[in-house]
Amino acid sequence: MKENSSDQNNLGKNYWDERWETRQTGWDIGYSSPAIEEYVLQYQNKEAGILIPGCGNAYEVEFLWNLGFKNITVLDISSKAVEILKEKYKDREGVTVICEDFFKHHGNYDLIIEQTFFCAINPNLRTQYAEKMHELLDENGKIIGVMFNKTFEKAEPPFGGSIPEI
Ligand SMILES: C[S@@+](CC[C@H](N)C(=O)[O-])C[C@H]1O[C@@H](n2cnc3c(N)ncnc32)[C@H](O)[C@@H]1O
Repeated sequence: MKENSSDQNNLGKNYWDERWETRQTGWDIGYSSPAIEEYVLQYQNKEAGILIPGCGNAYEVEFLWNLGFKNITVLDISSKAVEILKEKYKDREGVTVICEDFFKHHGNYDLIIEQTFFCAINPNLRTQYAEKMHELLDENGKIIGVMFNKTFEKAEPPFGGSIPEI
């Protein structure tokens, strides 16, 4: 796959660091998404390698960890978001917090959890998003998540989407 970076599209590290520094985190629901909880509750393999890209507050980590999942990687491009998470999850064995651009990440995961990350990237990176997710997923891996089936007027995140596109 062609190496790509969200920095080329003005929604890179500086943009997201500024949003975190100025607390423009209006997307914060304050708890893990109930739909994701419901899915994870019936997911049997506690050894599964799990990735949450563009994790932000990563509320799902607490829920997963309490259920016994101990191979959880969360990553975000913003150092500020990662600084908060490293402190929050410092005593959680099996939780890895990485500051990195998703498009530059390498790994192999059984389960990737998408929680308002797709809507945060520039829509012209969606093909690369799909290719990268495919690359990161194990042959039998799954991506699950909560996405918008809605169009928004603003030319900044969150960007909308539609079921056929997704
Ligand atoms: C809308 S927020 C949602 C985060 C999370 N679901 C929450 O509830 O806090 C999107 C997150 O994606 C991160 N992000 C944006 N582009 C990224 C990229 N290319 N690689 C990794 N993280 C990225 C941002 O820093 C931000 O924390």
